[in-house]
Formats: sequence, structure tokens, C-alpha cells
Amino acid sequence: MAIKFSNTFLLRKLHQLTGIVPLGAFFLVHMYTNSAAMGGARVFNEHVKGIHDIPYLIFVEIFGIFIPLLFHSIYGVIISAEAKPNALSYSYSRNWFYIFQRVTGIFLFFFIFFHVLNLRFGLIPGLESYGNPVAGNADNAFSIVSAEFQNAGILFFYFLGVIATAWHLAYGFWLFAVDWGILIGEKAQRLSLYACIGLAVFLSAVGINAAVAFVNKCGLLPDSFCEEVEKQGVVEPKG
Ligand code: HEM
Repeated sequence: MAIKFSNTFLLRKLHQLTGIVPLGAFFLVHMYTNSAAMGGARVFNEHVKGIHDIPYLIFVEIFGIFIPLLFHSIYGVIISAEAKPNALSYSYSRNWFYIFQRVTGIFLFFFIFFHVLNLRFGLIPGLESYGNPVAGNADNAFSIVSAEFQNAGILFFYFLGVIATAWHLAYGFWLFAVDWGILIGEKAQRLSLYACIGLAVFLSAVGINAAVAFVNKCGLLPDSFCEEVEKQGVVEPKG
């Protein structure tokens, strides 16, 4: 009898774990840093500089982000290819969530590949960041992303990336907690599922607002929301 690759117990557990730590933790920190764009160029650039000043950064990136990301996404694609979604025969919401989890995973495989080549390495010809990546260029970080996001198609693609990641992570927390026996009863599973959906909506809103903040000060929120930071002299006031 053929053994499915995705049934390998240890790999499966490692796949779940890498999704939560370090990748989930990285996404939360990443959205926090991006939200600094609400305070304007100087605040965002200072945050990026803070990241670039982390000692041994290249090793943190390789072992803390890129290797877990490669493993999680490649193994995730293998699982998706072997999975048999049954939402068409059973229209329970959980079957649909199961399908969304796989669809967002496959979309993210392409989105993150594009995004890292684009802003981290500046390797996508024809885009603003080509030959001018954010890494090693902290003083211009805001203006590089801002120039890039003037393109409505790119901005929309980032909205999709943020929403897909928010869903994938929030529902991933729930799947993890059920699979590891943390959420056992039917009621606990139902209530925590609502909480995870709420978390996905919240993270999407934060990520979208951060993206808009690169083209419109304070993002989708009124300017007055960011004025306190201006008053403290952290951001140059509007001219
Ligand atoms: C609001 C939308 C986003 C913006 C403005 C944004 C911005 C950036 C920037 C400027 C960098 C380069 C950082 C540097 O070199 O210092 C970066 C790297 C990265 N981003 Fe995003 N990002 C967004 C959404 C996402 C999403 C949804 C993911 C999915 C998990 C993601 C994953 C990554 C990864 C893996 C890196 C490479 C990290 C590293 O090399 O240190 N980003 N992002």
C-alpha cells in the first residue's frame, strides 16, 4: 500500500509548528512595522532601520524566515495536492474553510515569492524597486514602497496578500489548537472559530490600513488619529 507523503507524522507536526512559530509571529511583527507608515516616512524608516540593526540579521532571516517559509510552503502545496475537499458534497462551513485554507496557501506561495523578490531583493524588472530594494536602503524605505503602491494593481495585489495571510494564519491557529488537543469540546471549537474569524478580519483591516498609509497619510483613518504623533514632533507636520 502506498504511503502518502503528507501522512508522515513528524513532517506534518513540523509543518503546523512552523506556521505558528516563526511564520505567524513574523507576520504579526511585520504588520506592526508596516503600521508605522501611518506616522509618515520618518517613523517608518526608523522602524526599518531598527530591524536592519539587529545583530546577525542575515542568519535570523535565513533560519528564522526563509527556511521555515520554504519548508512550510512546499510541504503545504504537497498536502493541498493530496487533499480531497468535499465541500461540494457536504456544504458545511468547515469544509469551505478547509478549502479556503488550501487556496490561500497556494496563492500565498506565489504572493510571498513575488513580494520578497520585489521589496526585499529589488529583482522584479519594470517595478519601482527594481535595483533599489528596501534592504540596505532604510533611509528610503518609505519612498520605495510608496512609489510602488502608486500602481493600483500592485496595491490591490498587496490587499489580497494581506487578506489571504490573515485568513490563513487565523484559521491555522484554530486547526493547530484542534489538532493538538487544546480545543476539545464542540462548544469550545465553535466559539474559538468565531474568535479566529474575528482575528482574521482584524488582521486584514490592520494590514490594509498599513498598505494604504503608504499612499495616504494615516491610511483609511482620519488624519486626526495620527496627529498626536505629529504634535510630539516625531513626524514632520503636513506642509
Ligand atoms: C501591507 C503590505 C506589506 C508591505 C507594505 C510589506 C513590506 C515589506 C518590506 C518593505 C519588506 C523588506 C524589508 C527589509 O528588507 O527590511 C518586506 C519583507 C518581507 N515581507 Fe512584507 N509587506 C507586506 C505584506 C506582507 C505579507 C502579507 C507577507 C506574508 C507573510 C509578507 C512577508 C514578507 C517576508 C517573508 C519578507 C522578507 C523578510 C526579510 O527578509 O527579513 N509581507 N515586506
